Amino acid sequence: MRTAKRLHALPPYLFAALDRKVAEVRAAGVDVINLGIGDPTEPTPDKVVKSLQAHAANPSYHRYPSYIGALQFRTAVASYYYRRFGVAVDPESEVMALIGSKEGIGHIIWAFAEPGDVVLVPDPAYPVYRAHTVLAGAEPYPVRLVPERGFLPDLNNIPPAVARRAKILFLNYPNNPTGAVAEKSFFREAVEFCRQYDILLCHDAAYAEITYDGFVAPSALEVEGAIDVAVEFNSLSKPYNMTGWRLGMAVGNRHALNALGQIKTNTDSGQFTAIQMAGVDALGPEHDGFVAERRRLYQDRRDRVVAALRKAGWEVTPPKGAFYVWLRVPGPWTAEEFALRLLERAGVAVSPGSGFGEAGEGYVRLSLTVPDARLDEACRRIVEAGQQL
Ligand SMILES: Cc1ncc(COP(=O)(O)O)c(C=O)c1O
Repeated sequence: MRTAKRLHALPPYLFAALDRKVAEVRAAGVDVINLGIGDPTEPTPDKVVKSLQAHAANPSYHRYPSYIGALQFRTAVASYYYRRFGVAVDPESEVMALIGSKEGIGHIIWAFAEPGDVVLVPDPAYPVYRAHTVLAGAEPYPVRLVPERGFLPDLNNIPPAVARRAKILFLNYPNNPTGAVAEKSFFREAVEFCRQYDILLCHDAAYAEITYDGFVAPSALEVEGAIDVAVEFNSLSKPYNMTGWRLGMAVGNRHALNALGQIKTNTDSGQFTAIQMAGVDALGPEHDGFVAERRRLYQDRRDRVVAALRKAGWEVTPPKGAFYVWLRVPGPWTAEEFALRLLERAGVAVSPGSGFGEAGEGYVRLSLTVPDARLDEACRRIVEAGQQL
């Protein structure tokens, strides 16, 4: 069997490789605490589960769903955007349902980028932006995120010759993996930059609801005129503990959504309508309290991890959003070596920062999505292993 050459250009998907290693160590009898993946362990709100149960019995939903999403779901997304961000969008033409935001993020690249084009990809970043750029035969240009700039890219540093070849600029705030957040003023700059170079701004807002210390994350679409150049990807996965349901949305420029739709109609047939109808319930104002509770939970966990590591003398910056701690590797190891040592000696899985791009070297990412007692135990083991190392 001869697979396509484009596969060789892909680095191994970080989380799949990590999963395999964790499985090996588990098979050897170790009680592994997995802080490698951001996947909440708490359940979806009960009312949303019940809503799916009820809607699943509706035979009209047993047929092929709408390609672009049920109008009720798209309307619920538009209402949520208005309530949460003050952003008014037309549910008919400026909202599209996705089979998880990952699906839309991957597919939009195929609608815009081709060989010879550049895609501006933050480094470090969620690996999907880069992977699909490579698969589509375009060139990822790493836009570095450094702590000195609060992990916000310096767009003025992108050479004009590169910007002119760029089709898409990806941004993601609150940020995975660094935990950084962006103010509206930064999105204003990004919109201006994209307008100047005729670039599609793809903002990944998967963690928009997960912020700390009272910070309220803006939508990129809050910037006046953003809808001329931007699409925002959002998701029910993180705020409502719905990673397994695969429900997300793209909101923004209608021409960009049409282009995305051309790829999608030739690829998938939409998400199960009953899931979208349950999504309508999730997005309603009655779940704002549930989401606020998530924020409190993760902030409390963040504080426990930061306190435990600092007490042991580790240097750690508390994240302002998303549910990860971006930790500098102590000692002489690479991120991967350190992650491997933690897994083997402490039975704790973390993600090596290098899997998020070159600029992630020297860091590991710890996820806050395990129950409190396991997280405390993980910190205890990390500190102990750190002393031995
Ligand atoms: C930054 C970021 N964007 C998008 C996603 C994808 O989320 P989903 O496909 O579940 O909506 C993730 C998942 O971890 C993520 O970290």
